[in-house]
Amino acid sequence: MKKIVIIMVISTMSFACSQKSKSIDEKVNELLSRMTLDEKIGQLVQYNGFWDATGPVPQESNSKRKYNDVRQGLVGSVLNVYGVEQVRKLQEIAVTQSRLGIPLIFGMDVIHGYKTAFPVPIAEAASWNMQTIEQAARISATEASAAGINWTFAPMLDVSRDPRWGRVMEGAGEDPYLTAQVGIAKIKGFQGTDLSHSQTIAACAKHFAGYGFPIAGRDYNTVDVSKVTLFNDILPPFKAAVENNVATVMNAFNVLNGVPCTGNSWLVRDVLKNTWNFKGFVVSDWGSIMEMATHGYAQDRYHAAQLAIEAGCDMDMESYAYRNDLKTLIEKGVVKESLIDDAVRRILRIKFEMGLFDNPYKYCDKEHEKVILQNTDYSKEALQSALEAIVLLKNEQSLLPLSKNQKNIAVIGALANDKDTPLGNWRAQAVKNSAVSVLEGISVYTNDYVYAQGALVHTNAAGFIHTVNINTTDKSGFAQAIAVAKKADVIIMVLGENCFQSGEARSRSDIGLPGVQQELLEAVYAVNRNIVLVLMNGRPLTIPWAGEHIPAIVEAWQLGQQSGNAIAQVLFGDYNPQGKLPMSFPRSVGQIPVYYNHLNTGRPEGFNKVFWSHYMDIENTPLYSFGHGLSYTTFAYSNIVLKETKKGEYTITAHITNTGNRTGTETPQLYIRDVVASVVRPVKELKGFTKVTLSPGESKQIEFKLQRADLGFYTETGKLNVEPGDFEIMIGSSSSTILLNTKLTLTE
Ligand code: BGC
Repeated sequence: MKKIVIIMVISTMSFACSQKSKSIDEKVNELLSRMTLDEKIGQLVQYNGFWDATGPVPQESNSKRKYNDVRQGLVGSVLNVYGVEQVRKLQEIAVTQSRLGIPLIFGMDVIHGYKTAFPVPIAEAASWNMQTIEQAARISATEASAAGINWTFAPMLDVSRDPRWGRVMEGAGEDPYLTAQVGIAKIKGFQGTDLSHSQTIAACAKHFAGYGFPIAGRDYNTVDVSKVTLFNDILPPFKAAVENNVATVMNAFNVLNGVPCTGNSWLVRDVLKNTWNFKGFVVSDWGSIMEMATHGYAQDRYHAAQLAIEAGCDMDMESYAYRNDLKTLIEKGVVKESLIDDAVRRILRIKFEMGLFDNPYKYCDKEHEKVILQNTDYSKEALQSALEAIVLLKNEQSLLPLSKNQKNIAVIGALANDKDTPLGNWRAQAVKNSAVSVLEGISVYTNDYVYAQGALVHTNAAGFIHTVNINTTDKSGFAQAIAVAKKADVIIMVLGENCFQSGEARSRSDIGLPGVQQELLEAVYAVNRNIVLVLMNGRPLTIPWAGEHIPAIVEAWQLGQQSGNAIAQVLFGDYNPQGKLPMSFPRSVGQIPVYYNHLNTGRPEGFNKVFWSHYMDIENTPLYSFGHGLSYTTFAYSNIVLKETKKGEYTITAHITNTGNRTGTETPQLYIRDVVASVVRPVKELKGFTKVTLSPGESKQIEFKLQRADLGFYTETGKLNVEPGDFEIMIGSSSSTILLNTKLTLTE
């Protein structure tokens, strides 16, 4: 046995040596030519890890087979195997015991941090700060790669207009431009400029495509959108990801216009691989090949395997369809072997780019793992990300910030004392209950507060994960909350969702405050109106009552490990909030989808009381619109100037002045409207944003650039049309607060 291992190591090493001077494509082809059909198919197979978190004990009955498959070279990648010890063990089997010694890729959902928990993605997007977002991804990659991981299933680039869908927490909200920018920042952060660096990891743009538009906001549900919507609102972030060298793309679970994405040859082969020239590989979502049978698109698993490989799905995550059926499909002549070869080439190319053939253990340094995961402290960066993500939704009579000498505070709400919820869903290896709670954050400033839970919490199982349950009907804590509220000078109420009330499979039909929290809020308000409401949530909530009655509202999402410190710094004025909403907050669920970049109707105005596009019971506008976010200071906008610097290239400048008495950061936003077009265009489209920090009285010029192509739109064939005519150019502090306007006329 030992002898065989040694021979294999030597043959792998000599193979590696002879490879040095060749191009990656040559190396890939050479290796491919030595592979048996079984080995080729093996590269297309991805298995879930078969160790539990605490040790190498195989958990599943078929784990023996999985080990054996790795040994036979029948597996290309695994997910959820992490930690140098475990990764090395498995990599060793692949490299030293399989015939060709092809290394595995180790994937994991590193979504908003590996060990250091950063804000959940929708919160990160609220910072509108691409450097901060890139840095968080960079640190996530540093930590994950130290633990043996070299591939993350992120960023999620699903634009969504439906906050009922729990996965809005994982995305960057409702706008394709902002989502694209965030995606680019994350890809840069994860991948760096060199995939072969031992501290970079491959990114994965997911879920391709349309997954964020499920009917009725229910996860995994059908998606039925026009090609115009698809090309203009859903696909641009993916196109941007491909243009920025994302290594991999993941299929979406959903049916898109009648065809499941995993079997959608038009989407994956024509658009992604041919038109966009994507050179990386496509992985299915978990079991999504097999699910094509459940959808009623494939007859059975065998047929599903055929449809998926034909459609361009290169790797099978946990469907066992490629593992079990591809060979027969080829032997029977149903599937061409050239399709397999193409998929294998794509996967091997990434493995070569990662440098895994030069050193399959480059992510397996125990000492480095220790240094990074045990001794390196990224709390400063986590705090900065959290601070920038906070959005001040409302601040009447400048109730905030509180004075640092504020006495007699009541803090109410179970989430104020929750050290787990701020870590959010998809928290990788963040340690349970490791976040700084709001109470702990407040304690840094004062001990002059009384705490009451109000709505009692119970620890129970939410899905398969034990967490705090705030979806309770128990009101026995109300009396105590009301008692402390009565005596307080100011009340900080921390309400919202727990960490597993948003995320995958966490759709909600009612997105108000869960459980009895709304009742609690109203009961407290009845005895003392001086309330600062701090929201903790993974999605926009419907809070019309709070919006009307509560004087100050702080959107604090799920901000990661430094949550409580960041919230306290905002409450006590050491940090001036600057976040802006990446997604509209509806007034009611009945308005959904409500989003800023909608089309005009033929009857947008109330020209008479009845026959115009409106609701009888509610305004059309959201409660808080896309791009909204206040500061403790105020800003004035003036002097918009548009110049055509050369044919088809424009700059738009304006002045922003800090008119308040604190230093603050503003995020001016550039919107356009194509006034008349052959396909009706939205009333506003975000085309740029910038950040400007100003001390009191200070004024700075900001500048945006527009190119001809930015004025175009995609037709239903996917063609970019730039049509001459008039464009409104708008600069605002939110999508609903346009402060400057000008006009651009595009000639032929
Ligand atoms: C999710 C993906 C995720 C995968 C692996 C699926 O259920 O939809 O986003 O990457 O699981 O964990």
